[in-house]
Amino acid sequence: MFESLKAFPTDPILGISAAYAADASTDKVDVGVGVYRDETGQTPVMKAVRLATARVAAAETTKSYLPTSGNAGFNRAITELVLGLSHPAVVEGRAVTLQTPGGCGALRLAADLVHLVAPLSPVALSAPTWPNHPALLGGAGLTTVAYPYYDAVSRTLRFDAMLAFLETLPPGAVLLLQPSCHNPTGADLAPAQWEELIALVKRRSLLPLLDLAYQGLGEGLEADVHWLRRMTAEVPECLVTVSCSKNFGLYRERTGAVIYVGRSPVETQAVHTNLMMLARRMYSMPPDHGAALVATIWADAELRAAWQQELDGMRERLARLRRELATALAASLPGQEYSFIAAQRGMFSLLGLAPGVVEALRRDHHVYCAPDSRINIAGLSGIGIERLVAALVRLT
Ligand code: LMR
Repeated sequence: MFESLKAFPTDPILGISAAYAADASTDKVDVGVGVYRDETGQTPVMKAVRLATARVAAAETTKSYLPTSGNAGFNRAITELVLGLSHPAVVEGRAVTLQTPGGCGALRLAADLVHLVAPLSPVALSAPTWPNHPALLGGAGLTTVAYPYYDAVSRTLRFDAMLAFLETLPPGAVLLLQPSCHNPTGADLAPAQWEELIALVKRRSLLPLLDLAYQGLGEGLEADVHWLRRMTAEVPECLVTVSCSKNFGLYRERTGAVIYVGRSPVETQAVHTNLMMLARRMYSMPPDHGAALVATIWADAELRAAWQQELDGMRERLARLRRELATALAASLPGQEYSFIAAQRGMFSLLGLAPGVVEALRRDHHVYCAPDSRINIAGLSGIGIERLVAALVRLT
């Protein structure tokens, strides 16, 4: 049956990890896949996660099924973390959160929900965006279109072009936005731009799909969802997808959620049951472990404080690495402009390098960034900055 299948190309991001692992060089630098790394280059298990793991294991009495909507304590925690308990939709019972297998599972479920009612609605994605966005949403049968977002050569947002493009979308089109720490550019909208965008979304009746994968790694837990909360409070309907991979370090536990905010509790309840139907058809229910850890951390003041403190440290370290890299580049490449790296937030910046330079970085200098020249700032621990800068001096 499957004779006609040709080998499928390696994933552009996950493939970098495999290539890095296969490189025998002792000077190699991994700034590819978006995982947090500490000074030793490890992706650590967070302290609060370790403590919660012991508690969950000790308290667990069964491995029986979860409901299709997942772990109820986790769903409450995510609602509070992302929307906050004073959000009008939460107060009025117009918001619902459903645990999913990671942020990818959330995106797929959100896409399936859109496809159920509006299969022809286009989904607008930023150019550039995370390569798995078009794959996931297109894989659910939706058509994706690209809106101008960032110019990698001038290192600036293309906000006017973005608005002009969004004006051409039909009502009901889905607009995927990243509320903070934009992947792959590291460039987020300014407050005045968010205001303008919210007005446009309302006027053009677009459906925002807010993909939140880095809460806490940009400016802070609250600051990173400021505009998400504004948007979800002002538009009649909205979807949010959440990942706990980076801010809880739960990557392989596949811990995420989809949030729907609707016009009325009745409408929200109807969407909730349809999300459960779609989940049941696809994977039945999400895995419990990561969600149980998040729920345990959230419910315990000491664990929550320890988690926040470690997350604050991760965010501050990313900001420091950004400053150090920008300073080192300014010193070694005086004619080139790299100050944008220090001004951006989160895990990524886009260096704006030609594909040939990306290839030479890997082949000749053992520096592994994403094919679009996105670097993971956290991967620059130890002497990573020195090695990256030395390679760029040779190549640019
Ligand atoms: C990334 O962008 O590198 C991460 O979100 C990992 C992934 O799944 O691509």
